[in-house]
This record gives sequence, C-alpha cells and structure tokens, in this order.
Amino acid sequence: MPRFSRRSFLHLSAAASTAAALRFMTEPMLAVAARRRPHAPDAVVIDANENPLGPCQAARDAMAAILPLGGRYSDNLTDELVSTFAQIEGLKTDYIRPTVGSTPALALSTVAFTSPTKSYVTADPGFELGMMVSDHVGARVVKVPLTKTYAHDVRAMLAAGSDAGLFYICNPNNPTGTMTPKSEIEYLVENKPKDSVVVIDEAYIHLTGAPNALDLVKAGKDVIVLRTFSKVYGLAGIRCGLLIARPDLADKVLDRGGINFMPVTAVVAATASLKDPNLVAERRRINATIRQQTFDWLSHNGYTFIPSESNCFMVDVKRPGQEVRDAMAKENVMVGRVWPIMPTWVRITVGTQEEMTKFQSAFQRVMKA
Ligand SMILES: Cc1ncc(COP(=O)(O)O)c(C=O)c1O
Repeated sequence: MPRFSRRSFLHLSAAASTAAALRFMTEPMLAVAARRRPHAPDAVVIDANENPLGPCQAARDAMAAILPLGGRYSDNLTDELVSTFAQIEGLKTDYIRPTVGSTPALALSTVAFTSPTKSYVTADPGFELGMMVSDHVGARVVKVPLTKTYAHDVRAMLAAGSDAGLFYICNPNNPTGTMTPKSEIEYLVENKPKDSVVVIDEAYIHLTGAPNALDLVKAGKDVIVLRTFSKVYGLAGIRCGLLIARPDLADKVLDRGGINFMPVTAVVAATASLKDPNLVAERRRINATIRQQTFDWLSHNGYTFIPSESNCFMVDVKRPGQEVRDAMAKENVMVGRVWPIMPTWVRITVGTQEEMTKFQSAFQRVMKA
C-alpha cells in the first residue's frame, strides 16, 4: 500500500488547509488533519477507509494499456464506462454522470439543493463533506442522531427538516458502517418536502450485499445516488465516481461545475472493474472475514464496538478518542477519527489481516497503558 512521504503529507496538508479555508474537506484530508504529523513509511494506515487491495488485475492492465494514449482526451472511453454501468444496472445512459470520485458529486449536489433558506439534513455521526459545503453556502445544517440501532432516523430527519433542500443518507453510514433499512429510505422519499432531494451515498454499498436505491432513481423519484470506485474497487487514488439521477436533477447538479473530461486511466480502470465478474463478491468476502475476526478479538478482550457491515467500525475507547488516536500513532498504527457526538469512540478501517494483527497488539498496549 502506498505511504505518504513527508513531502506528500505537507502537500496534502496544504490542500487540506486550502479546503479548510473554503470550509470543506474530503475523506483523505480529514484523515491527514487528524494525524497532525506525517507517519513513518511502514505505518499501518487504517484511518481513511481505503482499500488495501488496490485496483484489480483487469483494472491495472487497462490502465497500463491506455498510457500511450494519455495524450488524448478520449471521451469515448467515458461513454463506454457509462454504457457498461447502464447495461449492468438496467439504466438509461443519460441518468449516469461520471465524476472524479464522488466528492465533487456530493459537494455540487449540496451547492445545487441547499441555500440560506433550504437546509441540509444529515445523520449524526455522519460523513462531514456535505455539512461543510452547506456551511459554506450559508445553509442550515440539521444533524439528527442515529437511532438506537445506528440507522438514520428518517422520521426525526423529516420532523427537523421541514425547510430541507437536501436529505443526505449514507448507506451504509460512514463512520458507523451501519445500514438504514430500504423501507425507511422509501418512507423518507415519499414524505419529504416537495422540492427537496434525497441524496443516497452508496460509497460502501457493495461491501454489504444489501439492496441498493437505484430502483428509486429508475422510478423517477427525487433521488440522487452517489457511487464511488474508491472503496470495494480499490481506485481511491485513481479517482472515479458516478452520480445517478433523473437527467433534470443530474443537470442541475453538474451545471454547478461538472464540466470537465475524466482522466482516461480512471475510466478504463472503472470499466474493467465493473466487468470483472468476481471482484465485488470476492472483496466483500475478504473484508467481512477480516472484520469478523477483528470483532471476535475485540469481544474476547471485552471491548465495545458497533457491529458494522462496511469496511470501517467504531470502537469505544472510554476516554477521549483523540488521546487513543495519538497513542496509536506512536505505535505506528494510524486510526481515527473521532466524531464530536461520540467523543470516546474512534473509527477504525478494516485493513489486511497483517495490518489488523498489528492493530490488535498496538490497541491492547494503548488500552492497558
Ligand atoms: C461516505 C463517503 N462518501 C463519499 C466519499 C468520497 O469518496 P471519493 O471522492 O474518493 O469517491 C467518501 C470517502 O471516503 C465517503 O466515505
């Protein structure tokens, strides 16, 4: 797995500072901000929900093969990604818009549908990007605690968001890795204020095997589904995502700045990944196995955690989470981050078997100290 050098840390820190000045940060920037200092090249990095397996072989081959053509924009390759996804999912091609990771799609959706009079309604704890963008556009951010089972409390979200422009559902949720039942999402979509949208962020959906929300898009609902190739497909550093919505909604979002060509390496890698018949099932199995082994170890040692269906989970460290994050960094294991509503809980990403073994030894030392 590639490591950040001091130089790249400073570069990313600078990017984070710039983004912080704009008041929004993406997952890797938030991870770097929580790290506070560069880490050693051999550190275990399980703090940004990355996939240690990286691109599948077909994606690597596709990227290598396209390099000589890197001097051309080749938008036909993006068309091929769209038609491949359309065919697999039974969607019309104009419902599918590729983006450079799903970060711009979420940020631009927030800009399009929130305003000083249209609030952004989200779960707490939840993925922060849309909250930061809403803050930037002057929209009210409504944070609604998760239910006792760590699902989105859609009824409370509806009650708190009569002025909502955008309801953000992350399924499974980041940071808890927990699912919101599809029936609850359907209830939200049916009962939301008329001119609002529901953005369903399915960054981690493939890791669960649960039903996705594409049928709501197909049914013409006011729903935007976000997908990324950064998680199960292992293309975080290659940068490819998809916004899937009714064309009028997609146009409204991307009119806000989505005019650009996609990197050819990203689209060919994404297309090859979609065409790999075994990738999703195989990686879901690997992640679930290592996650379960980690949960068994945590249970056996008396630690409290939230059972997750994703590649990250929260563990209760029963003291300020940042202290444990810093102590783990001294052990060369990067974990975190901490959400204000759960100050004694720390998010851990599921890494490789070897990484999780190192995590266990370091965690035991830190917790017993
Ligand atoms: C819930 C969620 N949405 C969106 C993203 C953005 O991912 P990317 O821009 O790499 O596609 C992330 C990144 O970790 C995430 O956790």
